[in-house]
Amino acid sequence: MLNKTIAIIGAGNMGTALIRGILNAKLTSAKKITASGTRIEKLEKLATEYGINITVDNKEAAKHADIVILCIKTSVIRKVLDEMHKVLHKNQFVISIAAGVTTASMEKIIGRNIPVARCMPNIASTVGLGSTAISFGKHVHATHHDIAIKIFEAVGEVVTVGEQHLDAVTGLSGSGPAYIYMVIEALIDGGVKMGLPRDISTKLAVQTVLGSATLVKQSNVHPAILRDQVTTPGGTTINAIHELESHGLRSMLIDAVATATIRSRELSELINK
Ligand SMILES: NC(=O)c1ccc[n+]([C@@H]2O[C@H](COP(=O)([O-])OP(=O)(O)OC[C@H]3O[C@@H](n4cnc5c(N)ncnc54)[C@H](OP(=O)(O)O)[C@@H]3O)[C@@H](O)[C@H]2O)c1
Repeated sequence: MLNKTIAIIGAGNMGTALIRGILNAKLTSAKKITASGTRIEKLEKLATEYGINITVDNKEAAKHADIVILCIKTSVIRKVLDEMHKVLHKNQFVISIAAGVTTASMEKIIGRNIPVARCMPNIASTVGLGSTAISFGKHVHATHHDIAIKIFEAVGEVVTVGEQHLDAVTGLSGSGPAYIYMVIEALIDGGVKMGLPRDISTKLAVQTVLGSATLVKQSNVHPAILRDQVTTPGGTTINAIHELESHGLRSMLIDAVATATIRSRELSELINK
């Protein structure tokens, strides 16, 4: 239990996931959470569902909060921080999940030696199975580390990294769900091509990805060893593996992570100019 007052600035997909996670983990009570946004009807639905406070005034949400979590798009973060920075002070803790916005930029815009953290979660946070990497600004203490880790553990797994690694995190786990959706989609089509009904193929493909990931995680065994364990000499799997290797599956995925990382770096440079 953190028992802190929390402002969620921008209650969209990720903001709502955090509200749900924070409440499920009982980190604080609904009465201590205020969500802000631009559309009151959308906020009212959240108030009804979760019993939280709502406002269309970001300053109002942030003013009395111990922790301010910025869940808005990168394109509006400067505007929102410009609007809020006068009410923010160094006894608060500002956490941003906006892609590309550096801790140095936030510290510069807000000023007042404010403790900040920059996080890169992913969309699986909406089902409590997210992967979040966190890096911290210059003015944080151990308690800020604990707070940020507890909040994001409420929606999945957490790692802390030096900020120089956040672009690679974006390329791997930030964008990663999209790569895996493509893999799932292709496996489904493979099953359909070979005559399986689509619903059966979908069920099998999804569970195969989920089960394989769970086995890697729970056994802590390297995936190459797990793969060898299911590869019978002269059998079906080795033939499929040969096909995947011929088409460069592993190189393709390595390149995908690398190219997304480079793009994240380019975008971040533009944003923080
Ligand atoms: N989704 C992901 O997979 C993912 C992964 C990692 C990081 N992120 C980061 O998370 C952030 C949010 O992403 P999202 O997917 O949750 O986006 P989203 O669903 O579009 O949510 C953004 C929310 O911000 C609100 N908003 C817009 N302008 C605002 C303003 N001036 N003041 C207050 N609230 C405002 C919007 O409310 P209205 O609709 O009412 O305007 C919307 O509810 C982004 O910066 C993104 O880079 C997302």
